[in-house]
Parts: sequence; structure tokens; C-alpha cells
Amino acid sequence: MAETSTAVESRPAAAVPAGAELRVAVLGVGVMGAFHVEGLSSRVRGARVTVVNDYAADRAEQVAASVPGARVEADPLAAIDAPDVDAVLIASPGPAHDEQVRACLARQLPVLCEKPLTTDIDSAYRIVQAEAELGRQLIQVGFMRRFDSEYVRLRQLVVSGELGNPLMLHCTHRNAGVPATFDSEMMIRDSVVHEVDVARFLLGEEIATVQVIKGAATRRAPEGFNDPMLVIFETESGRVVTDEIFVRTGVGYEVRTELVGELGSATIGLDHNVVRTGADGRWGGEITPGFIERFGAAYDRELQHWVNAARRGTIDGPGSWDGYAAVAVCEAGVEAVRTGERVTVTMGRRP
Ligand SMILES: NC(=O)c1ccc[n+]([C@@H]2O[C@H](COP(=O)([O-])OP(=O)(O)OC[C@H]3O[C@@H](n4cnc5c(N)ncnc54)[C@H](O)[C@@H]3O)[C@@H](O)[C@H]2O)c1
Repeated sequence: MAETSTAVESRPAAAVPAGAELRVAVLGVGVMGAFHVEGLSSRVRGARVTVVNDYAADRAEQVAASVPGARVEADPLAAIDAPDVDAVLIASPGPAHDEQVRACLARQLPVLCEKPLTTDIDSAYRIVQAEAELGRQLIQVGFMRRFDSEYVRLRQLVVSGELGNPLMLHCTHRNAGVPATFDSEMMIRDSVVHEVDVARFLLGEEIATVQVIKGAATRRAPEGFNDPMLVIFETESGRVVTDEIFVRTGVGYEVRTELVGELGSATIGLDHNVVRTGADGRWGGEITPGFIERFGAAYDRELQHWVNAARRGTIDGPGSWDGYAAVAVCEAGVEAVRTGERVTVTMGRRP
């Protein structure tokens, strides 16, 4: 099975001296950035936040004040250039990623960039090429599901051969609710993007085509919005992946994945949705309300892997190629929503 992850050891960059903490600048401290600042400050070992940057100055001040020794830098590029920064965590909105990631490459700093790597295929590919020209891997992309214990277990089942040749993957991604403006394109780029990476991670090959079926819409969706949708990927070798994306269920955060192999199948995502039986003869359960509750531990494990590798001047997780592949598949997915056609994914050659 081909390996899609780009994580390999490369020669050390600005490695942190033995025993010293990795000094991290965090760009963008909204929901994700603030969660990562907390993680770096209290749940993850070997790093500390020295610089905080946010487009909203008051937000940056508020977050920096919660971390002893952290200061605010008003300009993101100045934060990347700061002498007290060894590595950068980018949690600004997608459109800001291209410039910020390129600045990190120019300074040869390890970077953890929240998905998406960038918002269009061309800029993502230029970053893949620029990193390849450096001859070292510095960019990790925030596909945290690769660090979730259930996805890791499922991947182990695939690699061990216990399930036989994987034939199909069935994914479900449901949110209780989203902002009113969250349209079909955002459903693909912000939500389905995770299933794109999961499919590549579990099946170890690229996605070749994308098709989107728009069924009946929930009354919770604004007029003209397609929610839910069924997204169908076909991989290079012909495996089929289905993904139900439904972001206004009014229920909770439900992410499930079933892998169907020649020798059996395995499902993950049920542990977090606990089924309980009661003395009153009734049964019911609990569903995680949001993505932090479901994937909080995975984010921290992702951070710990990144910190450990960044101290050695490299990365340990999904890299720029994985980020680029996800952008390319989502681009095809957005076109598939628009045209109703099965769209072929266009990707450049891997450097
Ligand atoms: N991995 C995941 O599961 C996951 C989940 C949610 C969000 N994300 C990604 O994380 C990133 C941030 O998402 P969020 O939900 O935290 O958004 P958010 O809107 O809550 O926070 C973004 C913050 O960035 C600031 N900002 C805007 N432009 C900036 C710039 N040029 N430089 C620095 N800061 C800037 C904003 O003021 C805001 O505080 C996005 O790329 C998003 O796709 C990933």
C-alpha cells in the first residue's frame, strides 16, 4: 500500500538546545488558536508560547495575558521573525496561511498550520515546491484525526491486514449547527476536508474523483442551501468512499467511520456516543456536543508530536503534500457541488 503521509526524518533545522523549551509564536488566537495556546501552556511538554499575534489586538492582549512570559506582536510577519521564536503555530483564517507559511519557510522554522494549508491549489503547490527546494520538512498540517486513538487503531487494523484488502469506507460527519452563512462550499472545504485526509490516511492512496449528491434539505438550512449532502470519492485504485455531511442536525457532533475490508469491517466513532440502559426499562445515550469534546485529546497529541519533532527541527505528522492533496480534492468537490458532475481531481507531480 502506498504511503500518503509525508512525515520522514530530515536533518535538524534551528534545533532547540538540549533541555531548552521550544519557543512558539501563535498566529490567530480565535477558537483553535486559543485552545492550542492553552495546550502548549498546560497540557503539552517541552514548549512555551512566547509570542501571540491576532488581527484583533484586544484578543491578542487577552490571550497573551493568560500566559506567563508571553508578549503580543502586532504584525504576524514580525512575530515569525522574532528572535525569541523557534517555531510557529498558524491558526489564523485560511486566506492568511499562504503568506504566513511562506514566511516560516523563509526563516526555516518548523510550523504547525491549521487546515487548510492554503485556500487554492496553485498557492498550496508552490508551498510544496518551496519546501522541497529547502530539502527538509518543516510544515505539518493540522489534520488532528491522525492522532485520535480510534483512527490510529483503525489504521493499525488496515496495516496489519486483519481486515483484508480495504474495499470501501463509509463516513458520517454531523454537526448540531453552524453559522447561517455556512454554505455547500464551506461544508466541503471546512468539514469534508477532514474525511478527505482520513480516506488518504486509512487507504494510503490519492483520491481520483469526487461526486456530490444533494438530497432533500433540512428545514434548518437557509433557502437554497444543500444540507445534508452525500459526497462520493473514488480512489486511484477504484476504492469507494462515501461521506454523509450534515451540519444542521440540531443534535450534536457525530463523526463515524466504517471501513469495509475483504475479511471484515470495523467502525469507529461510537465510543464517544455512549449508549446507556436505565432501571426504568428505557435506553438512551449521550452525544459529544462539539469537536473540541470529541477531538480534544487528539489535538493535544498532535501538538505533542509536533513539539517533539520541532525541537529536532523537523515534523512528525501530515505534511505539506497532505495539505496540498486535501486542497486539490476540495477544489474538485466544490466543482462537483456546482455542476452535479463527477469531477476528476487535478494534482501536480509530487516533488
Ligand atoms: N483542525 C480542526 O479541526 C479545525 C477546527 C476549527 C478550525 N480550524 C482551522 O483553524 C483556523 C482558525 O479557525 P478558528 O475556528 O479558530 O477561527 P476564529 O475566527 O475563531 O479565529 C481566527 C482568529 O484569527 C484572527 N485573524 C484574522 N486574520 C488574521 C491574520 N491575518 N493573522 C493573524 N490572525 C488573524 C482573528 O481575529 C481571529 O481571532 C482556520 O484555518 C480553520 O479552518 C481547524
